Amino acid sequence: MAQWVVHRDTRWYEAPEEFRPERWEGDFIRRIPRFAYFPFGGGPRQCIGNSFAVMEAALILATVAQKYRLRLVPDHPVAPLASITLRPRYGVRVKLESRQGCAPERLPQANRPTTQAISAD
Ligand code: HEM
Repeated sequence: MAQWVVHRDTRWYEAPEEFRPERWEGDFIRRIPRFAYFPFGGGPRQCIGNSFAVMEAALILATVAQKYRLRLVPDHPVAPLASITLRPRYGVRVKLESRQGCAPERLPQANRPTTQAISAD
Protein backbone atom coordinates (compact mmCIF):
# COMPACT_ATOMS: atom_id res chain seq x y z
CA MET A 1 0.00 0.00 0.00
CA ALA A 2 1.24 3.50 -0.80
CA GLN A 3 1.40 5.96 2.07
CA TRP A 4 1.70 8.77 -0.49
CA VAL A 5 -1.78 7.99 -1.80
CA VAL A 6 -3.53 7.00 1.42
CA HIS A 7 -2.12 9.93 3.39
CA ARG A 8 -3.63 12.28 0.78
CA ASP A 9 -7.09 10.73 0.80
CA THR A 10 -9.70 13.44 1.38
CA ARG A 11 -11.95 10.89 3.08
CA TRP A 12 -9.64 11.11 6.10
CA TYR A 13 -7.73 14.36 5.61
CA GLU A 14 -9.28 17.73 4.89
CA ALA A 15 -7.06 19.69 2.47
CA PRO A 16 -4.40 16.94 2.61
CA GLU A 17 -1.78 18.97 0.69
CA GLU A 18 -1.83 21.74 3.29
CA PHE A 19 0.60 21.76 6.18
CA ARG A 20 -1.80 21.70 9.10
CA PRO A 21 -0.08 20.22 12.11
CA GLU A 22 -3.10 21.10 14.22
CA ARG A 23 -5.11 18.43 12.40
CA TRP A 24 -3.43 15.96 14.75
CA GLU A 25 -4.72 17.63 17.89
CA GLY A 26 -7.06 15.85 20.25
CA ASP A 27 -8.25 12.38 19.33
CA PHE A 28 -7.92 12.79 15.54
CA ILE A 29 -5.72 9.71 15.23
CA ARG A 30 -8.37 7.61 16.97
CA ARG A 31 -11.16 8.91 14.74
CA ILE A 32 -9.59 7.77 11.47
CA PRO A 33 -9.34 4.11 10.45
CA ARG A 34 -6.24 2.32 11.69
CA PHE A 35 -4.53 2.17 8.30
CA ALA A 36 -5.45 5.66 7.14
CA TYR A 37 -2.10 6.69 8.68
CA PHE A 38 0.69 4.15 8.56
CA PRO A 39 4.10 5.82 8.06
CA PHE A 40 5.76 2.84 9.74
CA GLY A 41 3.94 0.16 7.81
CA GLY A 42 1.96 -2.49 9.62
CA GLY A 43 1.68 -6.14 10.45
CA PRO A 44 4.55 -8.42 11.43
CA ARG A 45 7.18 -6.46 9.40
CA GLN A 46 6.25 -3.02 10.63
CA CYS A 47 9.09 -0.69 11.53
CA ILE A 48 10.87 -1.61 14.74
CA GLY A 49 12.10 1.98 15.06
CA ASN A 50 8.57 3.42 15.23
CA SER A 51 8.48 4.62 18.86
CA PHE A 52 12.15 5.62 18.81
CA ALA A 53 11.74 7.67 15.62
CA VAL A 54 8.66 9.50 16.94
CA MET A 55 10.37 10.28 20.25
CA GLU A 56 13.59 11.36 18.52
CA ALA A 57 11.78 13.62 16.07
CA ALA A 58 9.78 15.33 18.83
CA LEU A 59 12.90 15.83 20.95
CA ILE A 60 14.99 17.26 18.10
CA LEU A 61 12.18 19.51 16.91
CA ALA A 62 11.49 20.81 20.42
CA THR A 63 15.21 21.35 21.13
CA VAL A 64 15.88 23.23 17.89
CA ALA A 65 12.57 25.13 17.73
CA GLN A 66 12.98 26.44 21.27
CA LYS A 67 15.99 28.41 20.11
CA TYR A 68 15.42 29.00 16.43
CA ARG A 69 12.80 29.77 13.86
CA LEU A 70 13.38 27.79 10.71
CA ARG A 71 12.67 29.57 7.44
CA LEU A 72 12.95 27.98 4.03
CA VAL A 73 15.73 29.46 1.93
CA PRO A 74 13.84 31.46 -0.73
CA ASP A 75 13.76 29.94 -4.22
CA HIS A 76 15.36 26.70 -3.14
CA PRO A 77 13.17 24.02 -4.73
CA VAL A 78 11.45 21.54 -2.46
CA ALA A 79 10.60 18.47 -4.50
CA PRO A 80 10.13 14.81 -3.65
CA LEU A 81 12.44 12.06 -4.84
CA ALA A 82 10.83 8.66 -4.84
CA SER A 83 13.47 6.10 -3.94
CA ILE A 84 13.40 3.18 -1.52
CA THR A 85 12.30 5.89 0.83
CA LEU A 86 10.74 9.20 -0.15
CA ARG A 87 13.21 12.01 0.29
CA PRO A 88 13.70 15.63 -0.73
CA ARG A 89 15.34 15.74 -4.16
CA TYR A 90 17.40 18.86 -3.46
CA GLY A 91 17.42 18.69 0.31
CA VAL A 92 15.42 21.12 2.40
CA ARG A 93 17.52 24.19 3.01
CA VAL A 94 16.54 26.39 5.88
CA LYS A 95 17.97 29.41 7.65
CA LEU A 96 18.00 29.49 11.39
CA GLU A 97 16.79 32.69 13.02
CA SER A 98 17.55 32.91 16.67
CA ARG A 99 14.68 33.47 19.07
CA GLN A 100 15.08 36.02 21.87
CA GLY A 101 18.52 37.15 20.84
CA CYS A 102 19.90 33.64 21.25
CA ALA A 103 22.63 33.80 18.58
CA PRO A 104 24.40 30.52 17.74
CA GLU A 105 27.77 31.80 18.95
CA ARG A 106 26.26 32.55 22.36
CA LEU A 107 24.99 29.01 22.81
CA PRO A 108 26.97 26.41 24.74
CA GLN A 109 29.19 24.44 22.37
CA ALA A 110 27.03 21.32 22.67
CA ASN A 111 23.92 23.22 21.53
CA ARG A 112 25.46 24.94 18.53
CA PRO A 113 24.26 23.87 15.12
CA THR A 114 27.09 22.44 13.05
CA THR A 115 26.01 24.56 10.09
CA GLN A 116 23.57 27.38 9.49
CA ALA A 117 21.96 25.67 6.53
CA ILE A 118 20.55 22.25 7.14
CA SER A 119 20.20 19.96 4.17
CA ALA A 120 18.36 16.66 4.25
CA ASP A 121 20.52 15.11 1.57
C1 HEM B 1 10.58 8.55 10.56
C2 HEM B 1 11.34 7.48 10.65
C3 HEM B 1 11.00 6.12 10.09
C4 HEM B 1 10.05 5.75 9.19
C5 HEM B 1 9.01 6.64 8.51
C6 HEM B 1 10.18 4.33 9.00
C7 HEM B 1 9.37 3.56 8.16
C8 HEM B 1 9.50 2.19 7.98
C9 HEM B 1 8.67 1.39 7.10
C10 HEM B 1 7.50 1.93 6.26
C11 HEM B 1 9.08 0.12 7.19
C12 HEM B 1 8.49 -1.08 6.44
C13 HEM B 1 7.33 -1.65 7.25
C14 HEM B 1 6.57 -2.73 6.53
O1 HEM B 1 7.16 -3.49 5.75
O2 HEM B 1 5.33 -2.81 6.72
C15 HEM B 1 10.19 0.08 8.11
C16 HEM B 1 10.90 -1.05 8.46
C17 HEM B 1 11.95 -1.07 9.32
N1 HEM B 1 12.44 -0.01 10.04
FE1 HEM B 1 11.82 1.89 9.95
N2 HEM B 1 11.20 3.86 9.79
C18 HEM B 1 11.73 4.92 10.47
C19 HEM B 1 12.75 4.88 11.40
C20 HEM B 1 13.42 3.74 11.78
C21 HEM B 1 14.44 3.70 12.82
C22 HEM B 1 14.88 4.91 13.65
C23 HEM B 1 14.87 2.41 12.89
C24 HEM B 1 15.90 1.79 13.77
C25 HEM B 1 16.29 2.33 14.93
C26 HEM B 1 14.11 1.65 11.91
C27 HEM B 1 14.26 0.31 11.67
C28 HEM B 1 13.50 -0.46 10.80
C29 HEM B 1 13.69 -1.88 10.56
C30 HEM B 1 14.77 -2.78 11.18
C31 HEM B 1 12.71 -2.27 9.63
C32 HEM B 1 12.48 -3.68 9.06
C33 HEM B 1 11.51 -4.44 9.93
C34 HEM B 1 11.22 -5.83 9.38
O3 HEM B 1 11.28 -6.04 8.16
O4 HEM B 1 10.94 -6.72 10.19
N3 HEM B 1 13.25 2.48 11.25
N4 HEM B 1 10.42 1.37 8.58
